[in-house]
Amino acid sequence: MRRSEITVGSICFTAVVVVVVARAASDGSTIPRAAPQGGGRLILVTGATGRQGGAAARRLLERGFLVRALTRNPDQPAAHELRQLGATIAVGDFDAPVTIDSALRGVYGVFSVQTYWGHGYDGEVRQGRTLADRAKAAGVQHFVYSSVASANRATGIAHFESKWAIEEHIRAIGIPYTILRPVAFMENWESERDRILTTGVLRTPLAPETHLQQIAVDDIGSFVALALERPTEWLGRSVDVAGDDLTMSQIAATVGRIAGKPVRYEQVPWSEFEATSDKDIARMYRWFEAVGYSVDLSKLRALHPFLSTFANYLRARRWTLSSGARCGKEQAGVSGCGVERRFPVCEVAQASPLQDWWPYPTVARFSQYGEHGFAGARANVMRSGSRSLPLSLSSFGRHWPCAR
Ligand SMILES: NC(=O)c1ccc[n+]([C@@H]2O[C@H](COP(=O)([O-])OP(=O)(O)OC[C@H]3O[C@@H](n4cnc5c(N)ncnc54)[C@H](OP(=O)(O)O)[C@@H]3O)[C@@H](O)[C@H]2O)c1
Repeated sequence: MRRSEITVGSICFTAVVVVVVARAASDGSTIPRAAPQGGGRLILVTGATGRQGGAAARRLLERGFLVRALTRNPDQPAAHELRQLGATIAVGDFDAPVTIDSALRGVYGVFSVQTYWGHGYDGEVRQGRTLADRAKAAGVQHFVYSSVASANRATGIAHFESKWAIEEHIRAIGIPYTILRPVAFMENWESERDRILTTGVLRTPLAPETHLQQIAVDDIGSFVALALERPTEWLGRSVDVAGDDLTMSQIAATVGRIAGKPVRYEQVPWSEFEATSDKDIARMYRWFEAVGYSVDLSKLRALHPFLSTFANYLRARRWTLSSGARCGKEQAGVSGCGVERRFPVCEVAQASPLQDWWPYPTVARFSQYGEHGFAGARANVMRSGSRSLPLSLSSFGRHWPCAR
């Protein structure tokens, strides 16, 4: 198949995310929420202990799907967390097809994501094709594959081309599919957080005015859920997905604004960058500089109005706190059932409406509740500068952790 530019711009969706339920917030405004539409359908989520698969699993559970999470290691913390959220765990390895067949038994849909680290680009292609083949043999009705934005544009970047090869295979074997193509993850900055906040400098080899489109992985999870909820609109589609589009200078300025300290952008000389980075990553940056992602954000926002901006992502991940604050730490909290649980501090519900409806620079204590549901009225204060805004978090309530 020739590489056609099939992006959201070419898709004629007749409906946007429909507001089905509107709940009263404490200020009298309403928070729109779509009713769960998973209908108890079982989805095998691969990469579930990782970023994209984890986001997909959480969002699918919220939306009323049953989730079977694939992992090679069921004893790791991420697998325990998935169990607590209501997923079942399937132990399996893409390179052991028998385990994949067993994980696929009885599933309606699949979320497929692979990596190239550890087994190379050929290994990624082999694993992606195997999963699609086994899913087809198992009669899967909807196969959602996470590729990469612009995979269809002959970039010459090895880890884009590997995903294109998997895409081609999915189309060739005739399994009902949706392909999502995410741009750069906002989460990529997390490994740089300390350095950026300590030095006040954000560095890449891109020119200050070069644009970089980004997406929060939770929004990838939301698109996975949307596709599986609305197969008539999404089957057979390949959609590039992004959440924000900023220049490198704007990215640095946004970090500074949210962190409350100056952050300037500095372009690393290409020679320095290419001497120290992986060849394929360097090729990707050259492509970012010369071509770049080109997702139509306004069309995507029509489909998913709560797409996280970069600023909201940073707020949600508590870049508002000075260096030393960490995502991933756990903190005790009392759930809606009165049971003591532990909640990751930084797992804010960034795709929840809250961040968009309350765009205040500092969120106090709310973030410990995040993806686990709003688990108690203790976290009912948001701060805006010196002001404290009392909120009843349960009035935004997605659901209580024990309510499923
Ligand atoms: N970073 C970006 O900006 C960006 C943008 C677009 C696309 N991407 C693509 O996103 C992909 C990575 O996604 P991610 O960041 O969500 O991954 P991740 O967080 O690194 O997680 C990797 C997942 O893959 C699973 N896995 C690895 N090998 C496996 C195997 N042999 N069998 C079964 N499961 C296996 C792991 O599960 P267990 O270890 O539990 O088995 C883990 O859940 C890459 O292909 C990358 O190119 C990245």
